[in-house]
Amino acid sequence: MITRRRFLGQSLPFIPGLFTAGAVSLRAMSHDARAVAPPVVPNLDPNTLARYVDSLPLPQVAKPMEHRTAPDGSGERVPLYRVAMRAISVKLHRDLPPTNLWAFGGSVPGVLFDTRSGEGQLIEWANELPQKHFLPIDHTIHGAEKDVPEVRGVVHLHGGKTPAESDGYPEDWYVPGQSRTYYYPNRQDAALLWYHDHAMGINRLNIYAGLFGLYIVRDGVEDALNLPSGKYEIPLVLMDRDLRPDGQLSYPVSPNPERPWVPEAFGEAQLVNGKLFPYLDVEPRLYRFRILNAANGRFYRLSLSNGAEMQQIGTDQGLLPAPVALQYIQLAPGERADVVIDFSLHRGEKLQLESEPFELMQFRVGNAAVADVGLLPKTLRPVPRIAESSAVLTRRLTLDENLNMVAESMGMLLNKTMWHEPITEKPMLNTTEIWELVNLTEDVHPIHLHMVRFQVLDRRRFDTFDYMTANKLRFTSPPMLPEANEMGWKDTVRVNSGTVTRIIVPFVGYTGRYVWHCHILEHEENEMMRPYEVLPARM
Ligand code: C2O
Ligand code: CU
Ligand code: CU
Repeated sequence: MITRRRFLGQSLPFIPGLFTAGAVSLRAMSHDARAVAPPVVPNLDPNTLARYVDSLPLPQVAKPMEHRTAPDGSGERVPLYRVAMRAISVKLHRDLPPTNLWAFGGSVPGVLFDTRSGEGQLIEWANELPQKHFLPIDHTIHGAEKDVPEVRGVVHLHGGKTPAESDGYPEDWYVPGQSRTYYYPNRQDAALLWYHDHAMGINRLNIYAGLFGLYIVRDGVEDALNLPSGKYEIPLVLMDRDLRPDGQLSYPVSPNPERPWVPEAFGEAQLVNGKLFPYLDVEPRLYRFRILNAANGRFYRLSLSNGAEMQQIGTDQGLLPAPVALQYIQLAPGERADVVIDFSLHRGEKLQLESEPFELMQFRVGNAAVADVGLLPKTLRPVPRIAESSAVLTRRLTLDENLNMVAESMGMLLNKTMWHEPITEKPMLNTTEIWELVNLTEDVHPIHLHMVRFQVLDRRRFDTFDYMTANKLRFTSPPMLPEANEMGWKDTVRVNSGTVTRIIVPFVGYTGRYVWHCHILEHEENEMMRPYEVLPARM
């Protein structure tokens, strides 16, 4: 079965006719393939729960155990942390029984790392998970075959400029009872990063179970801006889950028990920092919110219930050149937004943070005037645009649908290539490349590259029919500049359906093998991930 599927997946060539002449039946099939079997017991309707009865939890800050010599030959002494992945049971809402989750430390999101740029650190990631998984493994997915251990984990620091051996390569997983010590040099600008499981074949399930947390990098440029800090700087981690009436996680499955993988998992319960409908008491002043979309597949479109504007000051890889006033902030899975909200204009009010049609959480603004409401600088951190002429190479890479005849299901591919095929993207260290991401599918795919940061050049609509039938790129719109809040350094970019989205990427940092992938975890898991390798610079 496994061999058959793999064989077919590998040998099924990209046949333009199949994707066009047969478009109608393909669509019909794709529709079927997206079917999700109804849960045995209907899922909990979160709207039956009382709102805003739990206060917003804040993750604990990690404390180092000891100091060790850095493994980079510098002789520098660096802190060593130890964090265990383990099973926990926590209440997601006052009126729900405790939910079984997997966590880094004792909470979901896990323990928070608060670090400084240029100050490296070691983290020992210990796998102390149980031997059995509690979510539905699909053994036909590459890397999750019946002969590999059920429970595996490996940790990746998303957005980290990390040496390859510490980057958490998906096949470098290890089993309960084992641990790995990774080195994070932190030689990068201040930004909100996050760490999460990346184990081949079950990463969507491990993250759904709760295996992720935040990692903040700070630096002097940011310090000098005097942004709201301490109790006025609040992380907000967004995720959606389906819950059973007994409060336990429910992960969707396909109607085929042999192949439970589903192409997307969307939950009805919206959690912020691991709580359903939490509230936060705030003073009438400026607050800084470090927001992460940690959902498997849901895109959030954040707004305040009174329509007030928020100031976005940073994106995935740090500060924007200047604050951007927005009524709506869109976040794809894996993306981050650094946002300042001025509550001084809303004394005594209650505001909801929303992503229609959902209410996510409530801010309760105090009544007493405060002496210092804080001030937001007009400019933040320059982000000089990279000249296109500095690129030594342009790669055209397609995002494709992948029809699997045997399983009658629809997966996604990068550049019509499966994970295990030889590496084709081999940029050279210290060179800059342009990647043209050609989206032939009907979905938006948030594409993430490990190790590097990049800038979005533009997006341009094209005729997908021409491309698929004649391999011809015919544009149907002028290039559209990225949104104002995408004008900073990014590590994850939304590639809209039927567009060529161009990014410019300086491959600065380390040589070695990394990955790039769609951050919709169900896509990533089913072949929408590829290795890439940074080659040593030519002498
Ligand atoms: Cu959040 Cu491979 O990444
Ligand atoms: Cu990453
Ligand atoms: Cu995708």
